[in-house]
Amino acid sequence: MQSMKLESIAEIVRAASEVVIFSGAGLSADSGIPTFRDGATGLWNNVDPDEVASIEGFLRNPQRAWSWLLGLRNLIDDRRPNAGHYAIARLEELCVAKQVTVITQNIDGYHARAGNENVLEVHGTIHRVRCHRHCGFVAGWDESSLDPYACPACGAPVRPDLVMFGEALDEEVFANAQLRSLTADVFFAVGTSFTVQPAARLPLWAKRAGAVVIEVNPHPTPLSEAADYAIRSGASPFFAALCANLEAVGR
Ligand code: APR
Repeated sequence: MQSMKLESIAEIVRAASEVVIFSGAGLSADSGIPTFRDGATGLWNNVDPDEVASIEGFLRNPQRAWSWLLGLRNLIDDRRPNAGHYAIARLEELCVAKQVTVITQNIDGYHARAGNENVLEVHGTIHRVRCHRHCGFVAGWDESSLDPYACPACGAPVRPDLVMFGEALDEEVFANAQLRSLTADVFFAVGTSFTVQPAARLPLWAKRAGAVVIEVNPHPTPLSEAADYAIRSGASPFFAALCANLEAVGR
C-alpha cells in the first residue's frame, strides 16, 4: 500500500473525534476461520445456510443446526484472534481522546478477546445460548450443552444467541450501531462483502453523514466505489502499519 495513502489516513484519524471499525468475516480469515463466501473455502459454498443458520432451518431440525453451529464454535475456540484484531485493539488504545467503536458482524468474540472494550456484535455471539421466546433465559454455550434443549424457565427451544437468517437484529444494539455510524468522523469497513442487510447499510449511512469511509479488503466490493479510500490489503498488515504510523508520528 502506498505510504502516501497511509500518511493521509493516519492524519485523518489524528484529526477525528470519533472512529468506527466495522468488521466482517475477512478479519478472522487470518485466524483460520473460513469466511462465508470466499471461493471454495466459503462456509456457504459447503453447507446450505438455510439448513444450519436460518431460524426456519433451526426450528425444522434443531439437531442439524445445533451440531453444525457447535462445530463452528469449537473451531473458533481452538483458534485465536490474529494480528489484525490486536492492531484494532491497539488503535483503540492509541485513540485515547476519541470515541472508538467496533461494530462487528462476526460472532467469534475475537475483538473482545484481543482487548477492544467498545464492541457492538450486531449479529450476536456464538458463545452464548438463549431462550427462543426471549423469556430472559441466557447461558454460556459450554461443553455440557452438546444437544439442543428446552428452556429451563419456560420450555421453549434454547438456541445460540446469534442472529439467524430470517431474524431481526437486536434493536438496541443496531440502533447504537446506527448512531455511532452517523456520528463517526472515520469509518473503517474491514473484511466484509456487504452482502447482508441491514448491517451493510451502515457504511453508506456513515458516508452520507460526512464520515471518511475507508475500505480494507484484498478484493473489490459493492462499497469500493463509494469509499473515500479502497485499501487493497489484508486487515492485519494495514492496521499494524496504521498503528505504527500513529505511534511514530505522535497520536
Ligand atoms: N483481510 C480483509 N478482508 C478479507 C481477508 C483479509 N485477510 N480475507 C478475505 N477478506 C474479504 C473478502 O474479500 C470478502 O469481501 O472478506 C470478505 C468476506 O465476505 P463474507 O464471507 O461475505 O463475510 P461477511 O461480509 O462478514 O458476511 C456478512 O453474512 O452469512 C452472514 O451473518 C453472516 O455476518 C455474516 C454476514
